[in-house]
Amino acid sequence: MASLFAPFDLGPIKLRNRVVMPPMTRTRTTEGDLPTDGDLPNAMVATYYEQRASTGLIISEANDIDQSSHGYARIPGIHSEAQIKAWRPVTERVHAKGGTIFMQLWHVGRLAHSSLLPNGQAPVSSTDQQAVGSEVFAHGPDGRLRFMAADKPRALGTGEVTAMVATFAKAAANARKAGFDGVEIHAANGYLIEQFMNSALNTRTDQYGGSTLENRTRFLMEIVDAVVAEFGPGRVGVRLSPFGKYGSMPNDPLTEETFLYVVEQLGRRGAAYVHLLYELLPDGNMESATFEARHLDHAMLAKARASFPGAFIWCGGFADRETAQASLDTGLVDLIAFGRPYIANPDLVERLEKGWPLAVADRSVYYTRNGELGFIDFPTYAEETAACNAA
Ligand SMILES: Cc1cc2nc3c(=O)[nH]c(=O)nc-3n(C[C@H](O)[C@H](O)[C@H](O)COP(=O)(O)O)c2cc1C
Repeated sequence: MASLFAPFDLGPIKLRNRVVMPPMTRTRTTEGDLPTDGDLPNAMVATYYEQRASTGLIISEANDIDQSSHGYARIPGIHSEAQIKAWRPVTERVHAKGGTIFMQLWHVGRLAHSSLLPNGQAPVSSTDQQAVGSEVFAHGPDGRLRFMAADKPRALGTGEVTAMVATFAKAAANARKAGFDGVEIHAANGYLIEQFMNSALNTRTDQYGGSTLENRTRFLMEIVDAVVAEFGPGRVGVRLSPFGKYGSMPNDPLTEETFLYVVEQLGRRGAAYVHLLYELLPDGNMESATFEARHLDHAMLAKARASFPGAFIWCGGFADRETAQASLDTGLVDLIAFGRPYIANPDLVERLEKGWPLAVADRSVYYTRNGELGFIDFPTYAEETAACNAA
């Protein structure tokens, strides 16, 4: 079986190894001059990704495709000229180091607060059911940022859903202009696309309605077709989290059926990869203290594998070389993503390859306004040992 450190052909792109840095929102953006500019990546963000360029594939933090997707404060986007311009130095610096970088595109749907949306409008979704129990980082009544309950959404009209497909395509075209090698469509973790795919949540009766498989996956498939048309086949990945509970997702008795159908359809439509949340946490909270592994069923994954000609990425709970390699050796997966380990280890690939110890980031630095602190100030192992030797 192939080594974690062997190159991999992802469609037309040659990855230097099979290690992936998955999307991680880090809230280190700068506000644009105009409200319509949205939040922008800055020089710190470029340094952060450049430091991690030895990764086979970097997938950027989630980006708003539209102002109506701005569910959380300090999230970058790709709907304005200012954002295209601000992302360009990031991709240039990763490329200069020989790296590959995709942009994650998202629409948060009902996981949003009206204080961040244009004109204080309600969040939009497949449904008008509120994500009870979910919080987003938004402005409180005193104008200060804090965690606030996600607001009650408004169900999008049929024409609005179709228009949203075009908005995704425009965002993909913008990502291409900004120099990204491809895009990942965020169809996981209870955000807008999953709000359509979940048969328990989606009670619509139109062509995007929940009662049939084709209808509840139509929104995703139309987006994939439109984005592949913009970017070309082999440059569009899709993130899925079957059985995930994040974002107050209700139990869906049809999850497996939907998942297998979606993967098979994505293969037909030229998707480059399926990025799976392989290890799920019981309460759906990525930062849960009571971490208990629950892996996706291998029999189900084998069926998905057989129907999809592209690559599979698994993410969730990987923290060492041995477990990652053992997963590759199952033959069910091609690439392994390490999320939280990437926060404190810019040279993660080298550390894994050489058996060097991994640094651990404190959770308090995950999302913060503290600028460089806990963001671009983690040394490589070589820098760390040089500093120790000098001391
Ligand atoms: C700080 C932080 C930010 C995250 N932001 C995103 C995001 O923007 N998009 C996304 O799909 N997942 C996001 N995730 C989930 C990660 O991509 C990953 O699935 C999760 O951390 C589990 O993998 P791990 O055990 O390797 O950390 C985030 C996770 C963390 C810890």
